[in-house]
Amino acid sequence: MPNVAVIGAQWGDEGKGKVVDWLASRADIVVRFQGGHNAGHTLVVGNETYKLSLLPSGLVRGKLGVIGNGVVVDPDALLAEIARVEAQGLKVTPDRLRIAENTPLILPLHSALDRAREAARGEHKIGTTGRGIGPAYEDKVARRAIRVCDLAEPETVSRKLDELLLHHNTLLKGLGAETFEKQDLFDRLMALAPRILPYAEPVWERLDEARRAGRRILFEGAQAVMLDVDHGTYPFVTSSNTVAATAASGAGIGPGAVGFVLGIAKAYSTRVGSGPFPTELHDATGQLLGDRGHEFGTVTGRRRRCGWFDAVLVRQAVKVAGIQGIALTKLDVLDGLPELKICVGYRLGGEVVRRLPAAPAAQAAAVAEYETMEGWSGSTRGARSWADLPAQAVKYVRRIEELTEAPVTLLSTSPERDDTILVRDPFEG
Ligand code: IMP
Repeated sequence: MPNVAVIGAQWGDEGKGKVVDWLASRADIVVRFQGGHNAGHTLVVGNETYKLSLLPSGLVRGKLGVIGNGVVVDPDALLAEIARVEAQGLKVTPDRLRIAENTPLILPLHSALDRAREAARGEHKIGTTGRGIGPAYEDKVARRAIRVCDLAEPETVSRKLDELLLHHNTLLKGLGAETFEKQDLFDRLMALAPRILPYAEPVWERLDEARRAGRRILFEGAQAVMLDVDHGTYPFVTSSNTVAATAASGAGIGPGAVGFVLGIAKAYSTRVGSGPFPTELHDATGQLLGDRGHEFGTVTGRRRRCGWFDAVLVRQAVKVAGIQGIALTKLDVLDGLPELKICVGYRLGGEVVRRLPAAPAAQAAAVAEYETMEGWSGSTRGARSWADLPAQAVKYVRRIEELTEAPVTLLSTSPERDDTILVRDPFEG
């Protein structure tokens, strides 16, 4: 029984929530493997709406949730999120949630540095979520991070705080921001320790057992390929690898166990934060996509930038992340538009290329080349079979498959869970 990894194929906010929720209901374990509480999705179950940032979505479906070592955990944010969903009637006990003992922590100094650096960047800001994600990953790679397991060793925490504060207070002072006191941070961490440690374990052992017992594991990606720290629109990216391969290193399981790679893509494009966006629309159509698609960030509340579907970028995401099937979402947002455009190349100098160049000036200079298609007058909303779709809508989907070189294995036609056309069950491989 193969496992499934779900990742975003654009710049995030592709409507992963609904697809992940559907897949979670068919899985035994749901694992987060990268990112932190910068992610956000909304799950509607019965009359309850859950807004999750850090907790694996499977928890809402009563499945075991695992936070892998590739995630960065803000313990305050985690406990606040647990309290929030518990107030809605969900129980998040240590037998329902496990956190890898080797997961690095996000401390208040990380978000302070994130915000201070963004302010210093001025008009060149990345547009981060300000949640300390980047600085926490930096500390992990610099080998000075405080990890979940360290909470059981006060002397380790004390020693690491010395090193962390030497580094961070110097930077914060230089940026004109407030510095931190060791004793405050130490006391805070020691108070958090008994509340976090019951969730900690070597999750690689549990995942190994689960794999051998034939349990279905769903790896739940956050952000998306174009925000990947290597393959995205660097430096306007997040600080982790968002491609499916990260599920292995970010959970402690072999690459062969990751299973089917499902990439989620919206039928158009959106992005939050700064950075290149070759198909961005600054006109009434962009406004209409944003209004109809309710394009506001779950975490930040910021309005998302909107544009046409970029087949060049999604094809690139398919290649670098090994996407085997696309779940196409929000097709209904395009209903009634007289014509649709799909980006099929970028004009750069005198040439048209089929990839986004890596250098920032070249990325910014890339001009989208479009293919224009006729729209459809009927509705795709709520369609549950291909026969329910207007012929032009089917043509649009087929063209996306050709251009991205990936099959659309799932089509979501409304926020409702059952309004889905399933071509191929990803758990069946
Ligand atoms: P960071 O992850 O907070 O460092 O932000 C870096 C970039 O990633 C910014 O452009 C954010 O807007 C973007 N970003 C981070 N998380 C998400 C997400 O879940 N959806 C969409 N964009 C995100």
